[in-house]
Amino acid sequence: MSVSSKEFRKVTTKTLQLFKKKDIKISALTAYDFITAAILDKSGIDVILVGDSLSNVFQGNDTTLPVTMDEMIYHTKAVTKGVERAMVVVDMPFMSYQTSVNEAFRNSGRIMKETHAGAVKLEGGERIAESVMKITEAGIPVMGHVGLTPQSIHQFGSYKARGKDDDEAIQILKDAKALEEAGAFAIVLEKIPHRLAKKITEALTIPTIGIGAGVYCDGQILVTADMLGLNTDFHPRFVRQYSDVADRMTTGIKSYIDDVKSQKFPTEEESY
Ligand code: KIV
Repeated sequence: MSVSSKEFRKVTTKTLQLFKKKDIKISALTAYDFITAAILDKSGIDVILVGDSLSNVFQGNDTTLPVTMDEMIYHTKAVTKGVERAMVVVDMPFMSYQTSVNEAFRNSGRIMKETHAGAVKLEGGERIAESVMKITEAGIPVMGHVGLTPQSIHQFGSYKARGKDDDEAIQILKDAKALEEAGAFAIVLEKIPHRLAKKITEALTIPTIGIGAGVYCDGQILVTADMLGLNTDFHPRFVRQYSDVADRMTTGIKSYIDDVKSQKFPTEEESY
């Protein structure tokens, strides 16, 4: 499709649904800070996710579990200040919505009130459908997330692809349908076979956004640090590296160190 996603002003749930209808693919990336968010937004990205991957990428944890509501809100406030066009979606952190429908409802409201984000994202399917319904009925857009859901890593036991056997594939499809019925406006499909992602994408009227789910999704998302080559220790096959930011940073930092040591920096022009 030749229509540029930049033709649309502020991205809303309606924009993304229109994209699906017109077969315009949705581009999405993560951000946890003001500068990155501003760069993504100015580059024309459609969706910026303040992912709970900030637990791994920003905080250095092994899993997404430790990040808290207060931390998600702190980072999202910085992100939304840098964004004019993209839709900002916030991950609800582990244990902020699993305990009860009311807890999910209250915490989603807190995120929307305090951050200026456009939507929240929850992991899970049928088992969180009641919460999704209550949150969306209050006017808060919800993005779902099925397949490999990292908050359940201790139940899965590994980060391997999900939905490879028939039973699990059927359950993932049911989960996606349950989220749509509950009012979700879009669903992330993580690390599932591309044929299953195609089936889900065709079965739903709301857009699917894939990560490790193949080309048939309505859009794609990656963790920005992974695709820019900032995180050099993580090379799953679904990540395409578009830059080598860590190498460039290292080169720049080494030059600075050399210049400081040899007194080439600062010069007279750089002094007062
Ligand atoms: O937390 C995150 O960054 C995510 C994406 C990888 C989909 O959930």
